[in-house]
Amino acid sequence: MLSISGKPYDTLEQVIGISGDSDQSLKVYDIQYKDVDLNDDGTFKTGEILKAINEKTKMVYIQRSAGYSWRPAIRIEDIENIIKEVKSVNPDVVVMVDNCYGEFLDYKEPTDVGADIMAGSLIKNPGGGLALTGGYVVGRTNLVEKVAARLTSPGIGKECGLTFGQTRSMFQGLFMAPNVVAGAIKGLYLHPSYTNHLIVKFAQNPMLTGATSFRPLNSAHLKKWLNFVKAYKPLHQ
Ligand SMILES: Cc1ncc(COP(=O)(O)O)c(C=O)c1O
Repeated sequence: MLSISGKPYDTLEQVIGISGDSDQSLKVYDIQYKDVDLNDDGTFKTGEILKAINEKTKMVYIQRSAGYSWRPAIRIEDIENIIKEVKSVNPDVVVMVDNCYGEFLDYKEPTDVGADIMAGSLIKNPGGGLALTGGYVVGRTNLVEKVAARLTSPGIGKECGLTFGQTRSMFQGLFMAPNVVAGAIKGLYLHPSYTNHLIVKFAQNPMLTGATSFRPLNSAHLKKWLNFVKAYKPLHQ
């Protein structure tokens, strides 16, 4: 597994076996892991990535959004270009994208530009604020079948699964999602325009990238933001 957007977000570190001491991590199953960091501006280090791919590389992994780290999200055109480069070196490599926070932000999704498989979270963009839990996996049928076999039961895969009666809110959330994401994006545009004098530096400018539905703030920004809210309150009293 070669992660080409730096280390994945914290939780996955234990799953992969980069941290923690789980006896069920990918590492324990002899799946080796390597990563290549992004450039500071959020672009891929193409040369380094292509050098890191060899005949043992089965999966190239891209995390589209920042997760809990302080870096820009990756633009869809950059994902498209790097997938072309990766496939030119080894067409059999499976490209997997964690699309969390990226859905409905662009006209295309990573699977439209060459990703073989993609996953995301229903408690973010595609759940439209209504899905209580869950996630999705989409992509090439044979790969989705493999995921299903791990996720539910080996041998019967997608034939079984438990939704705890949540199907209705999941699909209602999906229906609402593009609208909800559009609202979030409007907030991202509006927010800096009235707090710019308070919040000096963000991890990224969504106007430039359009690649994520959230804006990371550090504790200094948060303090300024809270002061702004406190100052605003008396207007309503
Ligand atoms: C980049 C990224 N991918 C995936 C997830 C997983 O989402 P969930 O909490 O639904 O498992 C998160 C959660 O924060 C995330 O930041």
